[in-house]
Amino acid sequence: MSANPSNLTPAKLFLAPMEGVTDWAMRDLLTSLGGIDQCVTEFLRVTDKLHPYKVFEKNCPELKTGSRTRSGTPVFVQLLGGQAIPLAENAVRAHEMGALGVDLNFGCPAKTVNRHDGGASLLKSSDRLYNIVKTVRDAVPASTPVTAKVRLGFDDPSHCLDNVKACEDAGATWVTVHCRTKTDGYKPPAYWEWIPKIQERTKVKIIANGEIWNVEDFKKCKAETNCADFMIGRGALRNPYVFSEIKAHLQTEQSQSPNSLELIVPFFDACTVYVNDHFATARTKQWLSQLRIVSPKAREIFDQVKVHKKPIEFKTHLEKLLN
Ligand SMILES: Cc1cc2nc3c(=O)[nH]c(=O)nc-3n(C[C@H](O)[C@H](O)[C@H](O)COP(=O)(O)O)c2cc1C
Repeated sequence: MSANPSNLTPAKLFLAPMEGVTDWAMRDLLTSLGGIDQCVTEFLRVTDKLHPYKVFEKNCPELKTGSRTRSGTPVFVQLLGGQAIPLAENAVRAHEMGALGVDLNFGCPAKTVNRHDGGASLLKSSDRLYNIVKTVRDAVPASTPVTAKVRLGFDDPSHCLDNVKACEDAGATWVTVHCRTKTDGYKPPAYWEWIPKIQERTKVKIIANGEIWNVEDFKKCKAETNCADFMIGRGALRNPYVFSEIKAHLQTEQSQSPNSLELIVPFFDACTVYVNDHFATARTKQWLSQLRIVSPKAREIFDQVKVHKKPIEFKTHLEKLLN
């Protein structure tokens, strides 16, 4: 089972940082429509200098309003670069100016950025990721989240395993995974299947990102990744209401699932009468394995009761969880 199950935690939805797109005006408008829990600024490129205050104010005008959009959504400042110390100095400045968190961009595929040693080129070395995240983490107060945004790798998706682990070991508060390599660019599909593999090795919270365009994609991504939190970029431009539609779907799901779950014990009993309690155990597990796809509560129950082979133990545990 994933170390970060979506169980009953309400999903958090992030608006993806998109340079040249999700500026103050777009963040302001989209967050006013509801459904977005967190924003990240477009990347602020860091070479070897500490940016003046006005550069931060331009990147994140929300710093003047508590690092929140006018509708109250928190905004983190995103930094991009390959040198740990200047990144840390700029992170400290962002913090001092009131940033609620600092996100580090390790995913940008742009040639100019990668030629200058930033963005996705860093995914070639988990040691460098570790060093950057750790240096920034140590520089800002522990109460300020330091987060990372990665792609699966530069050209090899399996590098996500070491890279996310490096971010976790360095103290990242969470890691957003854009489920493609740099070489994949923006070409569909997004390889969501890597997230459960990452979570077998890490406990850090993962934000799933890539190719969520609508509620259907969201449901598939949630079922495949078992994540609780999701980031949406281009989908927000095609449908600015996608976040509130997903939230509405989640509310319906949560209000419907207890009703379905009330049917489980009567079904077990009917199967016992129909054949026997071993049959009932098998059939009930089978049904729960379907219900868990649409119900976080069913997933939680399934994960706990599936280990029982003895019908009496299975049913007792089931009843306990349903009461
Ligand atoms: C025009 C554009 C600009 C982007 N700029 C950034 C950026 O500044 N920082 C970043 O971390 N990712 C950036 N991204 C990547 C997105 O945050 C996101 O990871 C990617 O679009 C996949 O999500 P989606 O399929 O929901 O769009 C950008 C993507 C696009 C299309």
